[in-house]
Amino acid sequence: MSDLPAKPVLLTGASGALGRVLTRALGASGWVLRLTDIAPFPDPLPNAASFTRADLADGVAILRLAEGCGAIVHFGGVSVERPFEEIVGPNLRGLYHIYEAARRERARVIFASSNHTVGFHDRAATIAAADPFMPDGYYGLSKAYGEMMGRLYWMKHGVESVFVRIGSSLPEPVNARMLASYLSYDDLVRLVARAVLTETVGTSVVWGASENRAMTWWRDDDRAALGWAPRDSADGFAAQLTGRISDDPVEERYMGGAYCRIDYTRGSPPAATGG
Ligand SMILES: NC(=O)c1ccc[n+]([C@@H]2O[C@H](COP(=O)([O-])OP(=O)(O)OC[C@H]3O[C@@H](n4cnc5c(N)ncnc54)[C@H](O)[C@@H]3O)[C@@H](O)[C@H]2O)c1
Repeated sequence: MSDLPAKPVLLTGASGALGRVLTRALGASGWVLRLTDIAPFPDPLPNAASFTRADLADGVAILRLAEGCGAIVHFGGVSVERPFEEIVGPNLRGLYHIYEAARRERARVIFASSNHTVGFHDRAATIAAADPFMPDGYYGLSKAYGEMMGRLYWMKHGVESVFVRIGSSLPEPVNARMLASYLSYDDLVRLVARAVLTETVGTSVVWGASENRAMTWWRDDDRAALGWAPRDSADGFAAQLTGRISDDPVEERYMGGAYCRIDYTRGSPPAATGG
């Protein structure tokens, strides 16, 4: 198998933190990238890349951008917890435009899903990719909706998807929770590359975390079928980060961390999940 996709790849959210990382790395590998974002692209463009400014709300623009593409790496949209009304446009309607474009082009979607789809699972548990969604806010809910949309388009139209449930992808981990959830930039790039290049993926789910000793929360995903295994680790940061926790029992109890306590009105957390 070649290391270069047969067709151009559309990357949304190109001007964002992870979009810039992917553009730099995949562009340097010679990928033909069609970049888009609502914000201007701040870096020099790689040789075989073009950039078009567009809003995910503009379905016609997204259709045009996807023309001739074999994959859509969808990293654009609201990337943090926000009020429902701010999330609906980019993350629900925008996602629909992405899947309609994928359907028309018979393209695959690599979707930047999130650990916040399962944020209200207890950290004491270990969950499989097939376990129920437990979103910890409107943002996580929109990502769960995205995964479900991908499954609809697979069953009805044969559109393939890889749902990457990204943990914390930053230059380096910054608190104790990220000793579990950290995903290095290099591991992310390799995962996205495998997601695009693997011959058939159907609908695959991969937990986006590096090889972290503290990562006891997530198991049983589709990484083997993609030929991906993380190579980096947050373990080297353990000495400096182990004590870096909050004094909030909700934040420390659940996988989603600080997102769980945003607008949390229950008082204290229940004795057991579901209680
Ligand atoms: N960084 C992480 O640790 C992490 C964790 C879980 C999931 N994710 C997901 O990965 C993706 C990228 O994350 P990031 O950290 O680079 O976020 P980011 O906010 O830096 O990038 C998102 C990009 O989407 C663009 N965007 C927002 N609304 C848009 C619209 N209406 N039309 C077109 N573009 C729009 C923004 O301009 C921005 O450049 C997001 O989908 C995010 O939800 C990231």
